[in-house]
Amino acid sequence: MEAANSNVMGGGSFRGDFRSDSFRGHHVSTQRMRIQRRAIQCRHDIEALNSSFITIFKSLVPAEEEKAKQKELLLSLQNLVTKEWPNAKLHLYGSCANSFGVSKSDIDVCLAIDDHDLSKSDILLKLADILQSGNLQNVQALTRARVPIVKLMDPDTGLSCDICVNNLLAVVNTKLLKDYAQIDERLRQLAFIVKHWARSRRVNETYQGTLSSYAYVLMCIHFLQLRRPAILPCLQAMDATYTVTVENTKCTYFDRVEKLHAFGARNKESIARLLWGFFHYWAYHHDYTDDVISIRTGGIISKRAKDWTRRIGNDRHLICIEDPFDISHDLGRVVDKYSIKILREEFERAADILQNDLNPSVTLFQPYVLARPRDDFIKG
Ligand code: UTP
Repeated sequence: MEAANSNVMGGGSFRGDFRSDSFRGHHVSTQRMRIQRRAIQCRHDIEALNSSFITIFKSLVPAEEEKAKQKELLLSLQNLVTKEWPNAKLHLYGSCANSFGVSKSDIDVCLAIDDHDLSKSDILLKLADILQSGNLQNVQALTRARVPIVKLMDPDTGLSCDICVNNLLAVVNTKLLKDYAQIDERLRQLAFIVKHWARSRRVNETYQGTLSSYAYVLMCIHFLQLRRPAILPCLQAMDATYTVTVENTKCTYFDRVEKLHAFGARNKESIARLLWGFFHYWAYHHDYTDDVISIRTGGIISKRAKDWTRRIGNDRHLICIEDPFDISHDLGRVVDKYSIKILREEFERAADILQNDLNPSVTLFQPYVLARPRDDFIKG
């Protein structure tokens, strides 16, 4: 999960809020231009770009030893927790468990516990005490964070870890993503490259009004469900083989994904073509005024049907991505009137690079460098 204040920048660049960059977000196409660009055909030499994107994907995939270290840490944490709470269970969730984690990520853990005598904060404080008595470093309980957690570092594996309490919907959506990833390898390839692009271009920062990694993976699944022939099925629309109720939400879907390995075989599109299609879709085809993407239904729902047509509190619904289980949750709600322009400008930039550039596998990921604010701007 993304650190609350991470601010990853290229060397020598200005660190800060990209809203102060007055050059950003002013070049989004007009509706007329978008309609014209929808008709653009994919460049004829797109297949020549495939091998470089596959190489980038492979460089992002974590080594097997990293998985082993994660399991080792989970096991030692579980042993400590069991001594105090014999029925409590720890689950990995997020990118370390959903198949979309890049190398050297921290791990996210959820403590599933049924202790009605203690509040969530008390559980976290007690958990921090338990962990402190083990061989763990930098143990900190952040009970007032939006998602309250205990943070720690394990000196044996070198891994950092965040532990939340009873966030079981996240554990279930982690399984859903992992199951989708097993159906067609192009999903992981696409999502790794899109996440890498989003980090390089600084549009993967929810606290700055752009989208979470989880949202980007849902966007990739949606896109592959819409290909014709489809590359991914809609698991929640198939006969359920997995059912669990968490936080009063019934989560059901078809999880025998080993039966679906041939699902996308009729579609022969390469990763380079899909990447082009993904950015072209978000740049020129997606209807930001009316549409909600929904991997739960395998298609588009209208904003009207979800009552997401107007701003309610801080939820603006300027780009709408329905959570597959918590269906009242729009993953796009963090996006505001400034960051929507930045996002759309970046989708267009990526689509145009993939269409026209000589060497897109380099240009696409060129780190976004925040322009230094003008002195008069700083002085106010
Ligand atoms: P993140 O978006 O932080 O991403 O969501 P990540 O998968 O850890 O990716 P990296 O580390 O940036 O590569 C972490 C998990 O939190 C849950 C999902 O289970 C997701 O996999 N989550 C996140 C939600 O359930 N809802 C949200 O709105 C965001």
